[in-house]
This record gives sequence, C-alpha cells and structure tokens, in this order.
Amino acid sequence: TRHLLGIKDLNEADLQLIFETADSFKDVINRPIKKVPSLRDVTIANIFFENSTRTRLSFELAERRLSADVVNFAASSSSVSKGETLIDTVNNILAMKVDMVVMRHPYAGAGVFLSKHINAQIVNAGDGAHEHPTQALLDAFSIREKYGDVAGKKVVIVGDILHSRVALSNILCLKQLGAEVMVCGPTTLIPKYIGSLGVKVEHNLIKALNWCDVANMLRIQLERQDIKYFPSLREYTMLYGLNKQILDSLDKEITIMHPGPINRGVEITSDVADSKQSIILDQVENGVAIRMAVLFLLAGQA
Ligand code: CP
Repeated sequence: TRHLLGIKDLNEADLQLIFETADSFKDVINRPIKKVPSLRDVTIANIFFENSTRTRLSFELAERRLSADVVNFAASSSSVSKGETLIDTVNNILAMKVDMVVMRHPYAGAGVFLSKHINAQIVNAGDGAHEHPTQALLDAFSIREKYGDVAGKKVVIVGDILHSRVALSNILCLKQLGAEVMVCGPTTLIPKYIGSLGVKVEHNLIKALNWCDVANMLRIQLERQDIKYFPSLREYTMLYGLNKQILDSLDKEITIMHPGPINRGVEITSDVADSKQSIILDQVENGVAIRMAVLFLLAGQA
C-alpha cells in the first residue's frame, strides 16, 4: 500500500514485516550513532490539526533518524485561521517539493479524503475517533516484546471505547495477530457495533482484569464528547479507575499499558502507572522504531 491510513488496510504479513523492520531500527536507535541514511532524499511534512506530544515528536525523531528532511506544520499557528482549506493547505506544502505527509486531524476520514485529492503519500497520525494506526502498531510491538508473541494473548482495553481511535486500531491489529480482545467500560462509552469486531464486552473491571494478560487503560476523551456524558469523571474513577489495591488483588501479574496522555488519578493512579508492571514508557520508546519502520517501508512503495 502507498499510504498508511488505517490498520484495516494491513494483513498479518504486513504487520509482521513492520515488526521485523522495527526490530532492526530499534537496534539502530540504541547505538551511539542513531542515524541511518535510508530516507536521505525524502522530504516529509508533519501536519497536525490537533494537539500531540508523543506522536508528533516520535514521527519527527523517526524521520530525522532516517535522515529525511522534515518540516512541521501546526494548524493553530497557520493560515488555516484565515480560511484556507485542507486541500489548499496541503497542496501549497507539496508545491515546496514534499514527498510524504504525516497528518493528524480531528475528523474521522480526513486521511482517506486527502489521499483522493493530493499527490503524495499519507500517513495517518490519528483521525478523529476513527484510527491511529501507528499507535496500535507500537502497542502490539510492545506486547510482542514483553511476551515474545501477540497470538493467544488476552488483552482488555478499558475506558472510553466510543470516542477512541486507539481502541479501534488496537482491536483490528490485535485480532489480526491472533490475540483475544475484550473491551471494558460503562455501556454509554461502548459503541453498539463492537460485537461485529469479534471482541468480548465486560462491564465489571475486576472480572475483566482477572481475565486478561494485558490491560490497556484509556483516557476519557472529554474533547470528543459533545453532550454531558454519563458517568461523571468521579463516578468513572470509582467504577473503572485502576489503583494499586485492585492490581495487587488480582489472580495473576498483568501488564499495564496506556497510550498517553495519562490523567493520573482518573483512569489510573500514579502507583500503577509507575509500577514494575507498567510498560507505558516502553510503548513510547517503541513508537520511534515503529514509525521508522512504517516510513521506511512506505518510501519503498513511492
Ligand atoms: N498516544 C498519543 O497519540 O499521544 P499524543 O496525542 O500526545 O500524540
């Protein structure tokens, strides 16, 4: 595929190739000399219409470690505020001889839309509540690193599934790799179509945690909720917040993941986020190697 718009476009062989390529890049970025010349003649624009810390910096580091030329665009400080459209904005950036666009956008489908109107390769860095493919790749890569394989692992995704692009991409990726997937949260935050994705649904946090090997704890995405939602944050924490007392009471030692940003004290307490069972910062570290792999493989499809 010429673009990376979503996990739904990848098969298991694609996923394994990305992981094997990321293995080699992880070795590279742990060396004193972290750069390789692979994308020396490629120019990449990171265009972000929505805020980001991890994804934006991780893509930029991945690009620089592959020796690409990099330009960064933040919508908030651009001429979008003067009424310029998405297609005009990107076509003007491409006129400066840019080869690849990494885009985050608040609307689902923005990457697919753009791919039909511009002549450049596109990597989706998160589109609304739709997909966040590189997050799912780095999450699955981190599970593979911890356990040796993703197949057969039991993964529960806890929280605001309804508004989460991380949840959808993770479900598609983990299922493709042969993991068992469960979602856990209040009925108001679990979409009706979830059963069609072949995942289990559990509304009781303790039961879900006792079932799983890995728990991926999501944030409540207040920025995507246009109605006052139920439960309130305080109620959510009482019913679905993961604390050390719960973690220590489980039948087995599970692995804790979180895509970030964390709202400490809401979906997860600090003593859990910072515990030995947490691989949250390993996920962030792996994000650079995964994004290097994705960019390198896509450049070969130009
Ligand atoms: N996980 C993630 O996408 O974080 P950012 O929004 O900070 O990029």
